[in-house]
Amino acid sequence: MVCLGNICRSPLAEGILKAKIDTGLVLVDSAGTAGYHKGNPPDVRSVAIAMQNGIDISKQKSRIFCVSDFDAFDYICVMDMANYNDVLRLARNKKDIAKVFYALEGNLNVPDPYYGGVKGFENVYNTLDSSCDTIIEKLNLPKIK
Ligand code: 4NP
Repeated sequence: MVCLGNICRSPLAEGILKAKIDTGLVLVDSAGTAGYHKGNPPDVRSVAIAMQNGIDISKQKSRIFCVSDFDAFDYICVMDMANYNDVLRLARNKKDIAKVFYALEGNLNVPDPYYGGVKGFENVYNTLDSSCDTIIEKLNLPKIK
């Protein structure tokens, strides 16, 4: 799960997807294309909305997306078009490129909630909750419950 800062959207996407699938079978992680918040935990507003939904993302740490992620992961899910372009810039070949897809169908953007209020984070949570269900079906991931 990739966004810009790896403190708002992708930590939520990681937490939500992990809560829905068997993490003993599938490795889920998140990263940002920029390092502004490297080593930091997720934004308090993301931590709060996740907690309200029974998911603890507070232990995550922001890291930068790197080329070796193309080798470590079968799929790379981006939140918006800027993330898509930044990730593709690091792709080495067609196989790398083919791994990258948008969280939202129709290549829509998950809006960046960083400069907005709590409502934006609620919106991102709900958007990603439903998007993770679609991703699970599309990639045939091992659902729990
Ligand atoms: P994210 O949100 O990409 O969803 O983690 C942002 C976090 C930080 C910044 C921008 C977006 N920033 O400019 O510091």
